Amino acid sequence: MSLSRVENPCFLLFLLVFQAVFILILYRGGASSVFRGFLESQRVLDYSKSHDVYTNLSLLAPAGGGAALPYCSERSPIAVGPLTITFDVLPSERTIIQKNPFVQSGGHYRPPHCLARYKSAILVAYSNQEKYLHHLLYYIHPFLQRQQLSYRIYLIQQVGNGTFNRAKLLNVGVREALKDEDWDCLLLHDVNLVPENDYNLYVCDEYYPKHMASAMDKFQYNLPYKSFFGGVSALTPEHYMKMNGFPNTYWGDGGETDDIAARIQLAGMRIVRTPPHLGRYKVMDYNRETEEPWRRPASHHNTGKTWKDDGMNSLEFKLLSRTKHPLYTNVTVDIGYVPPFS
Ligand SMILES: *[C@@H]1O[C@H](CO)[C@@H](O)[C@H](O)[C@H]1NC(C)=O
Ligand SMILES: *[C@@H]1O[C@H](CO)[C@@H](O)[C@H](O)[C@H]1NC(C)=O
Ligand SMILES: *[C@@H]1O[C@H](CO)[C@@H](O)[C@H](O)[C@H]1NC(C)=O
Repeated sequence: MSLSRVENPCFLLFLLVFQAVFILILYRGGASSVFRGFLESQRVLDYSKSHDVYTNLSLLAPAGGGAALPYCSERSPIAVGPLTITFDVLPSERTIIQKNPFVQSGGHYRPPHCLARYKSAILVAYSNQEKYLHHLLYYIHPFLQRQQLSYRIYLIQQVGNGTFNRAKLLNVGVREALKDEDWDCLLLHDVNLVPENDYNLYVCDEYYPKHMASAMDKFQYNLPYKSFFGGVSALTPEHYMKMNGFPNTYWGDGGETDDIAARIQLAGMRIVRTPPHLGRYKVMDYNRETEEPWRRPASHHNTGKTWKDDGMNSLEFKLLSRTKHPLYTNVTVDIGYVPPFS
């Protein structure tokens, strides 16, 4: 049977055309272009050869000439993949400002050389973790610029000594950030996490909420459990509103991210994840934590019953101040009743 197929003149002609096309590809692009994709993916994965996060950043300087800016290239010309992340030396605020000359007041950046294709708001819930903040800013500003994004960093700070409420602060951040711009993407970012690969793009998935921190060093670069949604995630404003935002009623660590994962399902969406070879993060100081990170925290909430009434539509807070720091927009809020720290 196979013999008869080979003898079939149509099949022989097909083989001939196929070969000709292949030779043409090799001739036009050279063998390198055929294999470039493959080689690049190897380079992007090799964490033993990491690069400084400021490498080649100065190449993204104003184009000059005064002509209208072209759109940024789809792929950043200076992306390198694995980045060198260490927390040995605490960078000063002055150093960070000096190293990021194109960041404008309020932690706002637009590529000076091209028109960004995406606008991302980075929202960080915060309470007096200045050391973490400096490390994060040192790495995240150049990281985002490497991706040719238009972005702004928001710090949402809870006043007082009360128990931290990450999810509610992020609701506040989303509401405040959307007053400034029609952001394409909302990046909800823990202050103590730093991304390790600049191919981990800070843009949203078109259809579903995206969990970005799929491989943290703290969990030996695995997910701690299957439905995990903590650390860093990316949602469009539409995703966020569809699930009524995050719950306002979780205090202290843990719990709320599982409620959020449940909301995503209840709102008829699902979680997509950055592949673990790109979604790698370094977590600051995790050895000091006493929590048991591998276990899914028990929930006392009934998300199925509460999600429609607890979220963006029930959000109340008092905006105390909104100031433009050179490296971020500082949104300080009184989020109302706070259970005493226990
Ligand atoms: C980035 O910098 C390295 C040197 O650190 C250089 O070899 C490389 O060509 C640069 N990449 C681009 C796109 O200019
Ligand atoms: C916060 O705690 C400090 C000491 O731990 C205390 O002096 C201060 O009054 C507290 N502030 C508030 C707003 O509770
Ligand atoms: C943010 O603003 C508040 C109020 O102005 C201020 O007390 C606080 O120190 C600021 N925080 C940071 C991290 O800049």
